Amino acid sequence: EKGGYDHYMIKEIHEQPTAIRQILECHGSGELTDLDPGTLEGVEEVQFVACGTSYHAALYGSYVFAERGIPASTHLASEYATHERPVGEGMLVVAVTQSGETADTLAAIETAQRAGARTLAVTNVVGSSASRVCDDALYIRAGPEIGVAATKTFSSQVVALSLFADRLAGEDSPGGPVAFDSLPWGIQRILDTSRSRDVAERYRGRDAFFFIGRGVGYPVALEGALKFKEISYEHAEGFAAGELKHGPLALVTPASVVFAVFTGRDDEKLLGNVREAQTRGATVVAITDGTNEEVLRQADDVLFVPESEPAVAGLLANVQLQLISYHAAALLGRPIDKPRNLAKSVTVE
Ligand code: F6R
Repeated sequence: EKGGYDHYMIKEIHEQPTAIRQILECHGSGELTDLDPGTLEGVEEVQFVACGTSYHAALYGSYVFAERGIPASTHLASEYATHERPVGEGMLVVAVTQSGETADTLAAIETAQRAGARTLAVTNVVGSSASRVCDDALYIRAGPEIGVAATKTFSSQVVALSLFADRLAGEDSPGGPVAFDSLPWGIQRILDTSRSRDVAERYRGRDAFFFIGRGVGYPVALEGALKFKEISYEHAEGFAAGELKHGPLALVTPASVVFAVFTGRDDEKLLGNVREAQTRGATVVAITDGTNEEVLRQADDVLFVPESEPAVAGLLANVQLQLISYHAAALLGRPIDKPRNLAKSVTVE
């Protein structure tokens, strides 16, 4: 059932090229096959509500929305539900939830509906509670995900939200559709060539693992840290790179490893943050396509991704970070598919 893999997590990491092809085939032609045409009428603004990995995917999505000129904000579902927000006519509240059963997210939907908002579920599970409660549902079609750590569904959520942004953006909107055509190939290339196991081995036993990025590299940093702590039980934190100097830098020592997510945008600023960490003795592993020589010179270690536009580069970097977490946890003999204290769907608030 694990198709020859040791764990569902690594199987599902390897399923990403197929999962992405599935969603592009289904929704990639500019139409979103699941949605009633009326669903998007008059939508001018979007609020995302989500938890955990889905929150990171939504945050990533909100950068893509902003680039297309569509105002979007991302909210932790558990916080959204604590107070009602004003929702105007053109507001759509989008619940991003793999399982469609997360209690915090369902509570946020209820809060939004009470305030009069229209709601949409972006989910992997047909017939899930979120898909039934929301006015409409968009399915990410990643196939079943069994490992507790969400992997392929993060990638599919980001692609789904980007296709959704394309659909919402008018003809004269800024930017253009993100070109995901080469994403399955890019992910496959990483799966075939990643040095992540060696890197995980090299830094095994370090005190702390930090993840930093800017733009879409920020949600990827948050997601990298969540995955790492979740399955390896090591101390891991993700930060917006610019925030390092506002506090977290106090944690950085020669026993720290910092993973820096380079996407091709704001690389110079991120390099500045890398130097800040190195000055405190940390080892920096850059996730990069290698086209910026300064990054290659400055980094202590490198994990490569194929060259692509920033909105795709973040997803590719995320795959390298999924692999790092997996190998770090495997080297420590952790129960990767069922980490302690965690459940696949969290049905209590
Ligand atoms: C982390 C993880 C969780 C979920 C979160 C939301 O690997 O899987 O953080 O992302 O519990 O779950 P869904 O997406 O089902 O609402």
